[in-house]
Amino acid sequence: MSTPSPDLGQVCAVIGAQWGDEGKGKIVDRLAEEFDVIARGCGGANAGHTIVVQGKKHVFHLVPSGALHAGKTVVLGAGMVIHLPTLLEEIETLEQAGVNILDRLIISGSAHIVLEAHKAIDARLEEHRSKSTGGAIGTTKRGIGPAYADKSRRIGLRVEVLRQSATEMTQTLHAYAEQIAHSEQLAVDVASEGEHLVAAKKVLEGCIRSDVPEFLHENLQAKKRLLIEGAQATLLDIDHGSYPYVTSSATTVMGALQGLGLAPRWLRSCIGVAKAYCTRVGSGGFLTEADEQRGEMLRERGHEYGATTGRPRRCGWLHLPDLRYAARLNGFTHWNITKLDVLDTLEHIPVGTETANGKAVYRDQQGWNTATAGLRAWNDLPKAAQTYLSMIEKETNVPVTFTGTGPAREDLVIRSVLHN
Ligand code: IMP
Repeated sequence: MSTPSPDLGQVCAVIGAQWGDEGKGKIVDRLAEEFDVIARGCGGANAGHTIVVQGKKHVFHLVPSGALHAGKTVVLGAGMVIHLPTLLEEIETLEQAGVNILDRLIISGSAHIVLEAHKAIDARLEEHRSKSTGGAIGTTKRGIGPAYADKSRRIGLRVEVLRQSATEMTQTLHAYAEQIAHSEQLAVDVASEGEHLVAAKKVLEGCIRSDVPEFLHENLQAKKRLLIEGAQATLLDIDHGSYPYVTSSATTVMGALQGLGLAPRWLRSCIGVAKAYCTRVGSGGFLTEADEQRGEMLRERGHEYGATTGRPRRCGWLHLPDLRYAARLNGFTHWNITKLDVLDTLEHIPVGTETANGKAVYRDQQGWNTATAGLRAWNDLPKAAQTYLSMIEKETNVPVTFTGTGPAREDLVIRSVLHN
C-alpha cells in the first residue's frame, strides 16, 4: 500500500451506511492484506461485488471481497443464508483463475441453505405484492426472505445437513417438502434440490465447522487480526431500516457480530461506507432522490446498475440525517466516502440537511467542477472537495479517513487526522 492505513486495531468491521452498493468490496479488498481472517456474518447471494481477477471482471455474491488474497482465512458465518450452487460456481471461477480458497474457507454449519424453493416463493410473493396496494419490495429474487423466514419458523435446512449421507439428505428434504406443501402449497422438487446438496457435499464438507465462534475467539487470542465484511447496508436492516422495504437480515455491525458469534468487546473500529451521493435499488422511500435528468447523470457517471440483478439504481443526493443515524447506530469510527469523482462535473451539489413535512430540506454545497478521478492525496483534492468531505465529518462527528476517487484499488485518499 502506498499510504499506510490508520490504526484500525485487531478487529475492524466495514458496514454500508445507505441502501447498499456503497462500494464496501473495494475497501475490504484494499485492507485485507493487513488482516489474517476475513469474515461475513449475514446475508446471502443478494449481495454483489465485482472483483477483477487477472484483468477479468467477476461478480461475486457469497465469497467475501478479501478472498483473493492468498493465505487469508475466509469465514462464512452462521447468520448467512447460502445458495450452494452459487457458492460452488464462485469457488470454481476462482480456481480457474488460479486462486484456491477451499483449503482456507470455513463455513458455519449453522448457516442456512437457500433452496430453489425459496427463490420460487420469493418470486411468487413479489408477483402477488406487485398486484396489491403496497406494491412489490423489489427483492433480488434470490430467495433471501423465504430462507430467513424458514430459519425463524425453525424449519430451515442448515449447512450441517451436508454432513449427512445422501439417503439421509433425501429424507431431510422430504420432511421439509411436506411442511412447505402444507404451509405454501408448493411442491418442492426433492430430486433436483437433492442433486444440489450432493454436489455441494462433495466440495464443501471439509470446510464446515460447528465451532466458528470458538475458532474466531482462538484466533483473536493468538493475536490474529479479523476484518468483518458487512453485507447490504444499514437502511436495509430488518429492525432499523425502512421496513418493509428492507432485506431480511440484520445489516448493522450488531448483526454482523451476532451472525459470526463474536463478542462486541473485540471490535476496535467500524468503517462506515457511504457514496458521496446516494443510490437505492428496489422500492421504498428515498427523500433525496434526484429528478430524472440529474439522476440519469449520476447513474451514467457512477455506472449505477445492480451487480446482482443489473437493475438501474435510483440515484440522488446525500441525506445527512441518514448518515448521522447510520453513524450512531453502528458506532462508526471512520468514514469511507466512495465515488467522489462521480460529482466532478457539478457546479453545485444539493445535500439533504433535514426533513420537514416528509420532504428533504436541501442546502447547496459548492461543487469543484474539476477532475478528482484517480487522485490519491488529500492535498491534491480541490478545496471545494475538501470542504465537502469536512462538512460530512462535522455533520456526523466521524472522520473521513478514506475517500474513493475511482474504481482502481489504488484510487483512494487516505488520511488519519481531521482537517477541519
Ligand atoms: P432481498 O434482500 O433480495 O430480499 O431484497 C430486499 C431489498 O433489499 C430490495 O430492495 C433489494 O434491492 C435490496 N437489496 C438486497 N441486497 C442488496 C444489495 O446487496 N445491494 C443493494 N440493495 C440490496
